[in-house]
Amino acid sequence: MNIELNTEQMIAMGKENVMNTYGRLPMALVKGSGSLVWDSDGKQYLDFVAGLAVTSLGHANPEIVEIICEQAGEILHTSNLYWIPGQVKLAKLLTDNSFANKVFFCNSGAEANEAAIKLARKYAKEHFGAEKIQIVSLKNSFHGRTLATITATGQAKYQKGYEPLPEGFSYTTMNDLSELEGVINEETAAVMIEPVQGEGGVHPVSREFLQKARELCDKYGALLIFDEVQCGLGRTGKLFAYEWSGVKPDILTLAKALGNGVPIGAMLATDNAAASFQPGDHASTFGGNHLVSAVGCKVMEIMTREDFLTGIENKGYYFQDKLQKLAEKFDLPGKVRGLGLMVGLPVEENGPEIVNNCCANGLLINCVGGKTLRFLPPLTVTFDEIDKAMEILEQAFQRSFNVK
Ligand SMILES: Cc1ncc(COP(=O)(O)O)c(C=O)c1O
Repeated sequence: MNIELNTEQMIAMGKENVMNTYGRLPMALVKGSGSLVWDSDGKQYLDFVAGLAVTSLGHANPEIVEIICEQAGEILHTSNLYWIPGQVKLAKLLTDNSFANKVFFCNSGAEANEAAIKLARKYAKEHFGAEKIQIVSLKNSFHGRTLATITATGQAKYQKGYEPLPEGFSYTTMNDLSELEGVINEETAAVMIEPVQGEGGVHPVSREFLQKARELCDKYGALLIFDEVQCGLGRTGKLFAYEWSGVKPDILTLAKALGNGVPIGAMLATDNAAASFQPGDHASTFGGNHLVSAVGCKVMEIMTREDFLTGIENKGYYFQDKLQKLAEKFDLPGKVRGLGLMVGLPVEENGPEIVNNCCANGLLINCVGGKTLRFLPPLTVTFDEIDKAMEILEQAFQRSFNVK
């Protein structure tokens, strides 16, 4: 089928044929380069969404394009019935640069978290018996859309309509140490935390809370799982967000930026935790195939180059400082939140209108929870691009909060 459609016709056909699970803006992005994207009508945008923290190395990054073409010409997929050299190399790169000793590969963040929950349950049963099943997660968290991961997600809106939910999940309030102490006990198999909550509104978890979680997990023989699907891989200015706190998990999940746009997820674990998975215990047909692993290796190679991370930290400070000044100029009560280039600003009910105004003026941002503007530019964004984004944002603020 080769049908040339204009944007309006394409959207009409989409409404007819694509399942209606997303509230989409009426546009299609068809080309990208670095921090820039173009829609199907040729309009250019600065992309401060980056495919939801995925295209961290920018669109059409020449090194990524090269490796995709090279690998596609060799072999794409053979299954996990056989060893995959690129997967082995990627596992080595991930373990050499983190707390972990072993990696399981899958295709998305939800699958990585599903694998983490399964591993934690299996570990708990093997080491402590059948009663140890509880997965403790945070209120307002987000861990994915499978049945187990919506259950771990501490937000009722994602769970409604899908009951009965899997048993054995409980929730606690972020940064409340005494509540955490009350909820973790002998029945806790794992505690699952995003070191910086993303979908919940860009909230970094305090170091004290992460330390307390580690301490309580050690006391009760529970595993500590960090979900770094969004905040991992350079997004906060460190390769892994947990490095800011110095608290090491037993399991860590990744996806999004690991493939810069090709779908890959990974669950990293210590040898101790990973030993509870034996052949046949968990699997994924596509997980870590030749293509995605080759790209993952290139992403890791680029992200571990000297100065890559320092640059992000500096751009993050610059961006957050400018955004805070802009918020103050418009007397916004909310403070800028975030770490590195994972940034949020609370704007109450003005969020969707600001997103639309920015879009009309050539800047893509998004809004989480209806009330927080979220900024996730490519990590390769330049200072000039940050300045340009700030100009467009100021224009949008002028329309939403009256002239200043
Ligand atoms: C922290 C976190 N965990 C898990 C997920 C789910 O990832 P995926 O959509 O790749 O399944 C997301 C997605 O936004 C996320 O932000």
